[in-house]
Amino acid sequence: MSKIQPSHRVEPYRREISIRNYHADDRSGVFRLLTFLPNLYPRGFDWLERRLTDVEAQKAYCSVALVSQRIAGILIDTPKGARTSKISTLFVKQTICRAGIGTLLFETGMKRWRAQGTDNIYITVASIRKRDIETFLQSNGFTESAYLRDHYGTDRHELVYSLKLG
Ligand SMILES: CC(C)(COP(=O)(O)OP(=O)(O)OC[C@H]1O[C@@H](n2cnc3c(N)ncnc32)[C@H](O)[C@@H]1OP(=O)(O)O)[C@@H](O)C(=O)NCCC(=O)NCCS
Repeated sequence: MSKIQPSHRVEPYRREISIRNYHADDRSGVFRLLTFLPNLYPRGFDWLERRLTDVEAQKAYCSVALVSQRIAGILIDTPKGARTSKISTLFVKQTICRAGIGTLLFETGMKRWRAQGTDNIYITVASIRKRDIETFLQSNGFTESAYLRDHYGTDRHELVYSLKLG
């Protein structure tokens, strides 16, 4: 388990936070964290089951942030071809947002993407979540690259943000 790097924002939680790879035992904790998924995406929990099965089969990657031994944040991404990876889920529990956990999850991903030779990262976001994530993505170098109107049904638009690794 890699312990987080302390920073001024993380300091109050320092002793309780760690970032590590997902284990099969985490499945119920991940579902508890992502309870909103079915509201955002049709059959969201079926999708999550499949994604976690992919992670367990090493076809996708998942890091979890633990706070006081409970899952409080998650990053799931899936390779799409040799040099591209798609982040399908980046989420931090609302009560502990702005404590640096999203940054730590993203940095963990960056280390892996660089080691794997990944050049392009993209993330799709439900348009109603734009305000919750856009500033974070922009501060990490992402730019909006596509707008998928009515992607999951009427008025269920998706935004795509991309990052080219230098
Ligand atoms: C985006 C998200 C992952 C960021 O996690 P976090 O732990 O709060 O992020 P950090 O504390 O590392 O924030 C780093 C910086 O990003 C920016 N930022 C993060 N959240 C922000 C917000 N809500 N508004 C404005 N800026 C924000 C700030 O610049 C922040 O630095 P600061 O706190 O020093 O100002 C988290 O807010 C989240 O889960 N949002 C919902 C995302 C979602 O809907 N995901 C599901 C579909 S993929």
